[in-house]
Amino acid sequence: MAPLILLTGATGLIGFRILLEILQSGTYDVRIATRSQAKAESILSNPAIQNLSHGSRLSTIIIPDFTAPGAFNSALKDITYVIYAGSPVPVPGFDPMTQIWTPSIVGPANLLSTALNYTNIKRIIITSSIVGTLDPVPNPSITATATTRIHLPTIPSTFTNIFEAYILAKITELNRTDEFIDTQNPHFSIVHIIPGYVFGHDHLVHDAETARTKASSCGMLLRGFTGEELPNPMHGGFVHIDDLALVHLKALELETTSETPSSFGACTMVDFSSVWEIIEKRFPKAVAEGIFERGEYHTLPVMYDSSETERVLGIKFRAFENAVCDVAVQYLELMGREVA
Ligand SMILES: NC(=O)c1ccc[n+]([C@@H]2O[C@H](COP(=O)([O-])OP(=O)(O)OC[C@H]3O[C@@H](n4cnc5c(N)ncnc54)[C@H](OP(=O)(O)O)[C@@H]3O)[C@@H](O)[C@H]2O)c1
Repeated sequence: MAPLILLTGATGLIGFRILLEILQSGTYDVRIATRSQAKAESILSNPAIQNLSHGSRLSTIIIPDFTAPGAFNSALKDITYVIYAGSPVPVPGFDPMTQIWTPSIVGPANLLSTALNYTNIKRIIITSSIVGTLDPVPNPSITATATTRIHLPTIPSTFTNIFEAYILAKITELNRTDEFIDTQNPHFSIVHIIPGYVFGHDHLVHDAETARTKASSCGMLLRGFTGEELPNPMHGGFVHIDDLALVHLKALELETTSETPSSFGACTMVDFSSVWEIIEKRFPKAVAEGIFERGEYHTLPVMYDSSETERVLGIKFRAFENAVCDVAVQYLELMGREVA
């Protein structure tokens, strides 16, 4: 029998792409945990999933609330690996405490403590973010890596906005999981994947309007070259979504030795002001027709080194131009426009 992966976040940009990677590998069976039956159905009926003829290799389980005590109990039965990519991003309108901080902290903690009871589990991968390894206001003169940990003197008990809750939650989750490893000495290994902004084809988007308005990293990138000024500064680091999915799978398969890293960065530095140059060069027709229009991004410069991930996992991260082009091409295709 193929090893069984429990995957959370399959209804999200990154989790869905990881699901495709798992099914395409042919090496694993996968159980996706979604918050409702309707969400599970939306994945099963997605054309990209249906094209893979997964048969019984893909199954579903409903966990309505990841933070409820014992929420992961049935889901972890017979599981060898877990990929935990089901955490909120800072969506405008979300309540900072209940919709960002609590699920980002209590969800993974709940999973880890329940996993102690399941001896089959070999490795748990948690998708984090570079913001968890950078000062809340990044200092670009300090090079961060996936092993950087930020220790803040205090964590506020309430948050003034979604970004504060998100950044502090990512910082805190990393520290609390390190503490869990030190105090619980789990029988499984825990690996964090630490991406910058994630861009590429979004398989969950099926029309151009949604592509442009969606509260997602790809939607943000697209808005900046379809005429909008983005209101909030963006950390200057990215990874192509296809590379990120591969990093998750390769990190799952890596032999554990004393040398094996337990955190993998997936971040190449970028200045978002370069987006328009790429668009003008690669899509002159769409620019001339006014489909693509110069907007504005504000980049928060960061200094990040993910070279260990490339070296240890034997991959080469794609260039920013590839990521921008994939987002642009998907949009043109959804509009029924010529891509060249
Ligand atoms: N996209 C990026 O640029 C980026 C960059 C760095 C790190 N990350 C990290 O990657 C992870 C996934 O991001 P994404 O871009 O795929 O986000 P996304 O498209 O918004 O998807 C989020 C996923 O997490 C699930 N989720 C959200 N809130 C939840 C909650 N309270 N309880 C259980 N599940 C919940 C969602 O499930 P529902 O469908 O049920 O809402 C969905 O499957 C997040 O941890 C994010 O911080 C993302």
